[in-house]
Amino acid sequence: MQTIDHSPHHAPDKIKFLVEKIDRLPTLPSILGKVLTITDDPDATAKDLEKAIIHDPPISAKVIAFANSPYYGFQRHVVDLASAISLIGFNAVKNITIGLSVFSCFHDPYSPLSTRVNAIYLHSFAVGFAADRLARFSRRCEREPAFLGGLLHDIGKMVLIKLLDLNYNSILEISQDKRAEIWQIEREVLGLDHSDAGAWLAKTWGLPELFVKAIQGHHLSGENTDPMARLLTLADLVIRKMGIGNGGNPCEPVIGDDLLGALALTGNDLAETIRMVEDSKATIVEMSHP
Ligand SMILES: [Fe+2]
Ligand SMILES: [Fe+2]
Repeated sequence: MQTIDHSPHHAPDKIKFLVEKIDRLPTLPSILGKVLTITDDPDATAKDLEKAIIHDPPISAKVIAFANSPYYGFQRHVVDLASAISLIGFNAVKNITIGLSVFSCFHDPYSPLSTRVNAIYLHSFAVGFAADRLARFSRRCEREPAFLGGLLHDIGKMVLIKLLDLNYNSILEISQDKRAEIWQIEREVLGLDHSDAGAWLAKTWGLPELFVKAIQGHHLSGENTDPMARLLTLADLVIRKMGIGNGGNPCEPVIGDDLLGALALTGNDLAETIRMVEDSKATIVEMSHP
């Protein structure tokens, strides 16, 4: 049987080598820095946050749409940004801003790979929802960062698509032909996989270490004891099973009892999560529309 090198230790040099082949990787939009500063400031108010994002129409529109989504289930229809922020809260606004900022860096409607990038975005958004719901049931994970972790878990695929352009399709084709996990083929072909690339990007952009570790570990649940990495592994399997979006992976997702047990989750928790995600499916599709 073929052995796969799981170690990330050699990856940074290889990523650096790949990065040198392109002009530049996207930088994170400046609005993100502003929003992170405000949401981390205990004295900041909803008004401060409103001022920071009101000049960014896509983010403002998503915040308002989120406040009106069945995910929150508010009775009243929200039409203005200030009410939306106070209803959904700082953390939700932070999550939306980071998610949109990150994906806007990679979204190119004219690219021949845009359909694939959009399918990964939908997959990622759905994994964020599932991770958030699972974290409500698990006593092993903090809930607040779960949505964002899910949203970012496959960001390395965006990096690799940006770096390799259409050549990334060959990796997907080999993965389809061999019925092998994409990350295994990435390792065979590139010497690193999208979890290395994603963790590297998260680190380069200065995202909190929690996300760097979880993104790095999201395929290796058996050996990885990081609770957030395990949660993302499970959320990813759930969404692949439900067939929402497409991360490109051809392998049949199998959810082991050991993974559930490590997160202190029961079969009922899992069934309830699937039901909740199913109920939010239309919202997830709408919200993830670039
Ligand atoms: Fe992945
Ligand atoms: Fe994934």
